[in-house]
Amino acid sequence: MNERTFSSSQAHRLDAAERKEWLPIAGVLDRLALRPGMRVADIGAGTGYFSLPIAEDVGPDGVVFAVDVQPEMLAFIEEKLKAAGASNVRCSVGEAVRTGLKEKNCDLILMSYLWHELDDVDIVLLEAQRILADGGSIAIVDWKPGVVRPPGPPLEQRIAVEQVAESLQKAGFGVRSAENMGPFGYMIVGGCGR
Ligand SMILES: C[S@@+](CC[C@H](N)C(=O)[O-])C[C@H]1O[C@@H](n2cnc3c(N)ncnc32)[C@H](O)[C@@H]1O
Repeated sequence: MNERTFSSSQAHRLDAAERKEWLPIAGVLDRLALRPGMRVADIGAGTGYFSLPIAEDVGPDGVVFAVDVQPEMLAFIEEKLKAAGASNVRCSVGEAVRTGLKEKNCDLILMSYLWHELDDVDIVLLEAQRILADGGSIAIVDWKPGVVRPPGPPLEQRIAVEQVAESLQKAGFGVRSAENMGPFGYMIVGGCGR
């Protein structure tokens, strides 16, 4: 954790109606090419904004590994899971650099609004390569720099999509797509070359 880590005391902001307007869940899910049976790691899962909808799309034969460094965040997910009666989300406390997930056991990794909070993205991407199965992919959604009236962290903490693309390429990922995601963000998808 560091001074940029999103505070669990602000967790309600992640599920605010206003956020659903500027970050529609379907807008992200539509681009993830989810299929029944997929194994998806939601790293920095927060309150499960994406974990639960993804779990619904991958169905009972699929699984979502919701990993977060703050146990308080995972408690919100557990509550939602109970209310929804969903059983295909596995929550675990972990660091993006050391997720605790098994080797080559994920088809897709999602990191949503986590990237700008990370200290060492090169090590995080090594870990991503370790847990991804052959042909797997990684989707990173984060803040666009330079938006004049944004919600979210200070502008100087935001990392341009071009820089994320460079990190992905350096770690051996091919960049499959990069596009705006709503007015404040972008989404970049990297593919595992193996
Ligand atoms: C801004 S929230 C985003 C949550 C969720 N992905 C979303 O888009 O709603 C960032 C989350 O990443 C978690 N986080 C920050 N640094 C992390 C790290 N190094 N490893 C794992 N989780 C981390 C925080 O605890 C927080 O829950």
